[in-house]
Amino acid sequence: MRAWDDSEAAVRKAAERRAEEHEERRKALDEQGIELDPVTPSGTHRHGDLEHASDHAHPHAHSGPGERPVTGIVGAGSVGLALGVALSRAGWPVGAVASRDDARRERFRSLVPGCRAFHEAAALVDDVELVILAVPDDVVPPLAQSLRLYAGQAIVHTSGLLGAEVLRPSMAAGTQAGGFHPLVAFADLDRALAALKGATIAIEGDDELAAHLADMADAIGGSPVRLAPGTKAAYHAAAVLAAGGVTSLLDTIREIAGVVGLDEEGALRIYLPLVRQTLANAEALGIMAALTGPATRGDAGTVRTHLAMLGSRAPSTLPVYRALAERSVEIAAARRALAPEAEERLRRALAGDP
Ligand SMILES: NC(=O)c1ccc[n+]([C@@H]2O[C@H](COP(=O)([O-])OP(=O)(O)OC[C@H]3O[C@@H](n4cnc5c(N)ncnc54)[C@H](OP(=O)(O)O)[C@@H]3O)[C@@H](O)[C@H]2O)c1
Repeated sequence: MRAWDDSEAAVRKAAERRAEEHEERRKALDEQGIELDPVTPSGTHRHGDLEHASDHAHPHAHSGPGERPVTGIVGAGSVGLALGVALSRAGWPVGAVASRDDARRERFRSLVPGCRAFHEAAALVDDVELVILAVPDDVVPPLAQSLRLYAGQAIVHTSGLLGAEVLRPSMAAGTQAGGFHPLVAFADLDRALAALKGATIAIEGDDELAAHLADMADAIGGSPVRLAPGTKAAYHAAAVLAAGGVTSLLDTIREIAGVVGLDEEGALRIYLPLVRQTLANAEALGIMAALTGPATRGDAGTVRTHLAMLGSRAPSTLPVYRALAERSVEIAAARRALAPEAEERLRRALAGDP
């Protein structure tokens, strides 16, 4: 992959700026106790080390010195579209998109000017230098199997779970593979574009590719990090709870609020302020101190009344209530808010024991 701005002055200036930003990020992450390994700024990295073979006749895109690589995105779903728009607005050339869906393809093209649109991923490879696979996790390995890169090209996926090794079948000599996972809930295009600013982006790849991807993350306002080996599944599981898990909890709250007579709008109006207070408390005081509710008081009778009501009026919410209440008891016990007998009473109530 030919690199973006190769000129020494530009490389030095960008490296200095990134070094300052990375230092700030590293400090912020350290203060938060997050054990990530923020990507080293690419100040010592020479862009464009990877040259195309001189006899390389295939007509895929070649960016010149000082230019950013031409990127192609496979999948015009939530992530593919948002990345395409974000990169294009940041001045990174998005040369092509591949989507099997006519409407999604056209929408992508209308929002990313100058981009070619293909039905098949394999056709896109000829037009770009960096291929981004923004397709469901299960589709990444078979899709990689069906693609063949040319020397000088790189491929990444946006999965938070998979490693870069699943892309190996698409690789040839002189190619690179990696990962680019934004920690963003891509539910809506405009909101996702806003959320990319300041979002953590986990990147993976050899040093050269990682430096390119860090620059790409910077360009769209993200904060690139590299995860410690073997931690990706845990990182992703926590992310899934932070996004989909919270949404599922809100849905549980909505269902129970239905017993009160509230519709979804009413439930959100009443309970979201409480959710926000809790988030603010956790941020300001820490998670343990933010816990309130019957578990902190040893109110086993309250828990029994809740379980009985939910069992008859909203039974599908019972497992969620029980699992979270058990976790609350653990937190309360850990912060020594409960006498051992109160903890025992709560545990018996949750187990349905007399
Ligand atoms: N959603 C999030 O919040 C989020 C956040 C971070 C990372 N991610 C990751 O980003 C990736 C994409 O997620 P997403 O939410 O954007 O998914 P999505 O909205 O469902 O979009 C997936 C895209 O992949 C295409 N696709 C599906 N099956 C395919 C196949 N067999 N061959 C070729 N293309 C296929 C889809 O169809 P068409 O070809 O019909 O367009 C669609 O354009 C996943 O790895 C996910 O884990 C998601």
